Amino acid sequence: MKKSLSFLLALILCCALTACGGGQGAAGTPSAPAASQPEETPDNSQAQETPDTSTPADTPETTEPEGDAGNGVLIVYFTYGENAPLEDGVDASASASIQLRADGTLTGNTGLAADMIAEATGGDLFSILTAEQYPDNYDDTIDVGQTEQVANARPELSSQLDNLDSYDTVFLGFPNWWGDMPMAVYSFLDEYDLSGKTMVPFVTSGGSGFSGTIRAIENAEPDATVLEGLSLRDSRSSQAADDVTDWLARLGLAG
Ligand SMILES: Cc1cc2nc3c(=O)[nH]c(=O)nc-3n(C[C@H](O)[C@H](O)[C@H](O)COP(=O)(O)O)c2cc1C
Repeated sequence: MKKSLSFLLALILCCALTACGGGQGAAGTPSAPAASQPEETPDNSQAQETPDTSTPADTPETTEPEGDAGNGVLIVYFTYGENAPLEDGVDASASASIQLRADGTLTGNTGLAADMIAEATGGDLFSILTAEQYPDNYDDTIDVGQTEQVANARPELSSQLDNLDSYDTVFLGFPNWWGDMPMAVYSFLDEYDLSGKTMVPFVTSGGSGFSGTIRAIENAEPDATVLEGLSLRDSRSSQAADDVTDWLARLGLAG
């Protein structure tokens, strides 16, 4: 009787453990990064309706920073609008993450902020571009971003920085993706040694702000000095010029 009661208890315990482990993968599978849910659901209410391109996009051409490193300030940024095969003439107002520059080129919220920083500091711009582009559909990009994060991926980059030595102040801008940096930004930080540089982070997001990314940058570049960052709401990125200049003035970095 005692034996069968113990067996029954063991069976119940076993079932309960199996149920709890559901969807977490087999024992020994590396656990997913902390942010398995976006801290704030990305605003995709205005997502494009263009169907997903499931085949890898053409590799973009290698780019170098625009400018001659004149004042030692570099603005490195990742933005969705420069990493997706978007058609010229795409309706930028139809997506939460596509922005049209005055010169007609496409960028994203973080790209707009990067432009403002370049304008105010006189620094050079460098866009982190991935060899394989993200889907032209924003909803699909949200999924790809999560898949890359869970896999702790390091997407291959197609843009190369050859003259990092010429810069002592490096701004680093990115969108908050699932409570973290896009994994392509980790690729950049793995690829380049920013020891001895002053790093100035900025983020655009639907509301999550930096989350834990400042710590992640400090961990990736332990010998860089990381200054106070700027967090911008995605919906206000086109009107952020005053926030940018106030922040730069506080840091003594206005041009
Ligand atoms: C893959 C993905 C994940 C996102 N996760 C978050 C999130 O966790 N929290 C948040 O506030 N916004 C999130 N967003 C919204 C973006 O951070 C925000 O729209 C940002 O400004 C986009 O910048 P970009 O246009 O430069 O790419 C996410 C967007 C994408 C595409």
